[in-house]
Amino acid sequence: MKTLFLLPFMLLVMLGMQACSSDDFQEDTEDVDSNGIDTGEAETKMLVAYFSATGTTRGVANRIAELIGADTYRIRALEPYASNPYDDSDRIQDEAYNNRRPEVSNLPENLDNYDIIFVGSPIWWHYPAMVVCTFLESYDLEGKTIIPFFTYGANTYFQQSVDKIHEVTSASVHLRAFGSTRSTSGVENWLHEIGMLAAN
Ligand SMILES: Cc1cc2nc3c(=O)[nH]c(=O)nc-3n(C[C@H](O)[C@H](O)[C@H](O)COP(=O)(O)O)c2cc1C
Repeated sequence: MKTLFLLPFMLLVMLGMQACSSDDFQEDTEDVDSNGIDTGEAETKMLVAYFSATGTTRGVANRIAELIGADTYRIRALEPYASNPYDDSDRIQDEAYNNRRPEVSNLPENLDNYDIIFVGSPIWWHYPAMVVCTFLESYDLEGKTIIPFFTYGANTYFQQSVDKIHEVTSASVHLRAFGSTRSTSGVENWLHEIGMLAAN
């Protein structure tokens, strides 16, 4: 009699256990990649790639990386620029106005690990430093999310520079770019606005 009374309750417990274990199984299989390796928690990998001659863009890059927990990569030109890049103004103008592709000395082998790539540059003669375009065109970035950011003296050529990054990553998804004169103020707000940082 006692067993009969408990039977519906035991059935409910068993059904509950079944539902729970099938959910757990689904979560586990989602984290296993095609090689059968357990990749652990599904995690979006982010990279902050940037070029910087005098350190301003580097400051913004480091702030972004610090806030979102991304890796960083500094693009370096095979033929380095003068330590005061204004001494290389003719070269830089020629590269920008003639859409040249200066070689990169330290290209990563691939960017397969990264789904989201922030791309930073100073504005040099109305465009991104062309070595940044060389970097971007070295990879198949189809479907990856590209988020440009710039530092500059004045924001006159900000949109033109954003357009250039979009042009050389036309198969990518783009989020709203960031620009600043010197400081990193505004970076945190912008990351919130584009959904890269959760609300406090
Ligand atoms: C050769 C040269 C050309 C520049 N051209 C522009 C420009 O067209 N528009 C602008 O707003 N700033 C221009 N700047 C200023 C830089 O964009 C600004 O100083 C930037 O923050 C430098 O970044 P970095 O310290 O990361 O190298 C130029 C600077 C140099 C050296």
